[in-house]
Amino acid sequence: MESRSPFKGDILRGKVALLTGGGSGIGFEISAQLGKHGASIAIMGRRKTVLDAAVSALQSQGIQAIGLEGDVRKQDDAVRVLESTIKQFGKLDILVNAAAGNFLVPAEDLSPNGFRTVMDIDSVGTFTMCHEALKYLKKGGPGKDSSSGGIIINISATLHYTASWYQIHVSAAKAAVDSITRSLALEWGTDYDIRVNGIAPGPIGDTAGVSKLAPDEIMKKSIENQPLYKLGEKWDIAMAALYLASDAGKYINGTTLVVDGGLWLSSPRR
Ligand code: HXC
Repeated sequence: MESRSPFKGDILRGKVALLTGGGSGIGFEISAQLGKHGASIAIMGRRKTVLDAAVSALQSQGIQAIGLEGDVRKQDDAVRVLESTIKQFGKLDILVNAAAGNFLVPAEDLSPNGFRTVMDIDSVGTFTMCHEALKYLKKGGPGKDSSSGGIIINISATLHYTASWYQIHVSAAKAAVDSITRSLALEWGTDYDIRVNGIAPGPIGDTAGVSKLAPDEIMKKSIENQPLYKLGEKWDIAMAALYLASDAGKYINGTTLVVDGGLWLSSPRR
């Protein structure tokens, strides 16, 4: 059963959000929760069938939603998807970068092109979307008033806080994402009143990340060492996104919020 949101249903009323990777997994749950709290939703993804199913699911909950095909590795796609979002909803308030590539592979078996592919999706893709969205997110941008700028949320990970087996590409890519978050928070927070933050999820049940990357046995052991003794839910990540996207987070800029039950800093009990 889905937990009830502790936030009021209108905290994002009138807002427009664009989410890359918003059609499945954690990205979809963030789309749904932003929508349930009043935002209109545009989701960007590579697979039409996934987008169509996600848009139907959102619309069936009374959420205004559109799906836009595109690959964050292509600058032209980023430009087109942003233009379509503005055409449909008139403005952009919230950009969530949730698109990510991932697979488990020992470093010695990973080709430079495999490494580059994940850097391109996670790090360059995040920068590209932010870069192309800037003119819409600035205060006084199309459809926006001159009193406040928009919000960016970059989905990261905790893999790179230490070192993670067979994740050299993703660890490097997410380290770059965190750095992008801080640099843009500094420059665009100061110049344009745009808040830029990240969320670093721990292991979240029922996601491609966990089912593909952490076979059951490893996951059981990991849970035994976890301060809160359980997997997180996609809902937990979506609530963090709501907090950062709403006025509740109005003084938060340049932070990557870890939502992992304390897992990354834990070690086995002796
Ligand atoms: C080794 C691989 C590989 C694999 C791809 N490559 N998959 N190498 N093991 N399993 C290499 C290829 O050999 C190739 O290099 C290069 O990467 C590009 O591969 P393509 O298949 O041509 O690329 P593409 O079709 O664009 O797809 C790449 C991809 C996809 C998007 C990364 O493979 C993928 O993994 N999609 C799933 C996305 C996903 O699960 N997202 C959820 C992320 S969850 P060569 O040298 O051969 O040309 C997440 C959570 C993190 O991020 C935290 C977890 C705890």
